[in-house]
Amino acid sequence: MIYSIYIVDDEQTITDSVTMALEDDYRIKSFSDAETAIAHLEKDPPDLILLDIGLPGMNGIDALRHIKDVYPDVLVIMITAYEDVDTVISAMKLGAYDYVVKPLYMDGLEVTVGNALETIRLRKEVRTLQEKHLKEHIPCFIAESSAIQDVMEFIKMVAKSPDTPIIIIGETGTGKELLASAIHYNSPNFKAPLATVNCAAIPKDLIESELFGYEKGAFSGAGAAGKKGLIEESAGGTLFLDEVGDLSLEAQAKLLRFLELGEFYRVGGTKKHHIDTRVISATNKNLDQMIAVGQFREDLYFRLGVIKVKAPSLNERPDDIIPLTKYFLQEFSKKFSKEFTGISSDAETVLMTHHWTGHVRELKNLMERAVLTGKGPELLPRDLGLDPKSQRRQQSTISGKTGFPPLSPEGIVLDEQVQSLEKHYIEEALKLAKGNESKAAKLLSINHHTFRYRKKKLLGE
Ligand SMILES: Nc1ncnc2c1ncn2[C@@H]1O[C@H](COP(=O)(O)OP(=O)(O)OP(=O)(O)O)[C@@H](O)[C@H]1O
Ligand SMILES: [Mg+2]
Repeated sequence: MIYSIYIVDDEQTITDSVTMALEDDYRIKSFSDAETAIAHLEKDPPDLILLDIGLPGMNGIDALRHIKDVYPDVLVIMITAYEDVDTVISAMKLGAYDYVVKPLYMDGLEVTVGNALETIRLRKEVRTLQEKHLKEHIPCFIAESSAIQDVMEFIKMVAKSPDTPIIIIGETGTGKELLASAIHYNSPNFKAPLATVNCAAIPKDLIESELFGYEKGAFSGAGAAGKKGLIEESAGGTLFLDEVGDLSLEAQAKLLRFLELGEFYRVGGTKKHHIDTRVISATNKNLDQMIAVGQFREDLYFRLGVIKVKAPSLNERPDDIIPLTKYFLQEFSKKFSKEFTGISSDAETVLMTHHWTGHVRELKNLMERAVLTGKGPELLPRDLGLDPKSQRRQQSTISGKTGFPPLSPEGIVLDEQVQSLEKHYIEEALKLAKGNESKAAKLLSINHHTFRYRKKKLLGE
């Protein structure tokens, strides 16, 4: 592949000599000011820019700031007329790859350019490898809603630092484990292992040896040779502590020591081990409440939660419900050799109005059963096995417990309250049914005629 390089300098002798020295091996474009070079970036972004600091108009430092903001992957080598230490330091802080001092010696410049391009080649290689790992380990992550897309963007950003602890909080089945894998495979640690420990599934007296390993004879039943724990297994990679709220207080104390010092002892051992790994933890428990009653250490919570990620519930991202359903429909159709081709609009309505308490896992399990027992080719409401009316009744009872304004001693006008509730549900139903009145009427279990009458009365349309 031929790399492309911009040379930006107001002295034509410089742009001419650099072009002459490099044009046999690279694609070169020269510019005499930063504004014109920047205007070309979008059309034809280069791999590398040689950028003079003392330019007329926008100076090199401001240009560098702009380039790194918009095109962070483009490498920039600064050209400076004299070794002004402060300016060079600020350029390096802004992300310049290197700098060269005028007068330029072409042999030296070729070496610096060669090093920069080798860095680009290696970065590209790592990215291709990373994408391959991502596809292998997370073949499909449905993320259509803006709520989950925001989370994914945040994850990609925080994944870049290889050792910052991250805690993922969210209700059961919201995809916390999948998000933990996404962090690992988007991080620089992606080639090293991702070791997962489910703190709730391991008996309390075994969790320490599972995490920290043990030396031979540490306890009765300990293997003759001793064993590495999951922290050691995850060296250079990621340790995922699932259901971290279930860790015993003793294990919490040891984990805290490890997080603070990067050191630990195997159970029954006296040798100090030092391991670098990123710790991701996840829980669906309310750790604040656990801290308040002394079941979880606050200092450990601060350490684990340097970065907090909240996995949104499925009810908070309704735009994902149908894409997830389609994906699971396809996957289970393949698995069970069924021929489901789509979702009927009534089934869509049932799925969209269901209150998901088990989130993506509930939807996945439901689709497995629906595909296995349904006939197809369309997914029908009866395949889903959800009773929409009882579901809705359950929902209104839930909100009924907390959702109504309190009755004050001054009293209320009951008819007004009832009307405002009715108006609210008519508006909501219209929104959910995307303006389709007969669907909206179905959602409220009233007939189309009644719906129109009440809509006219309350909304005046
Ligand atoms: N965005 C998604 N796209 C595709 N599949 C998903 C998505 N999110 C979750 N899943 C699937 O849903 C199931 C539940 O996800 P996961 O185990 O990550 O949830 P969790 O939050 O860790 O649940 P728990 O709190 O019960 O441990 C898994 O089978 C997972 O593959
Ligand atoms: Mg989980």
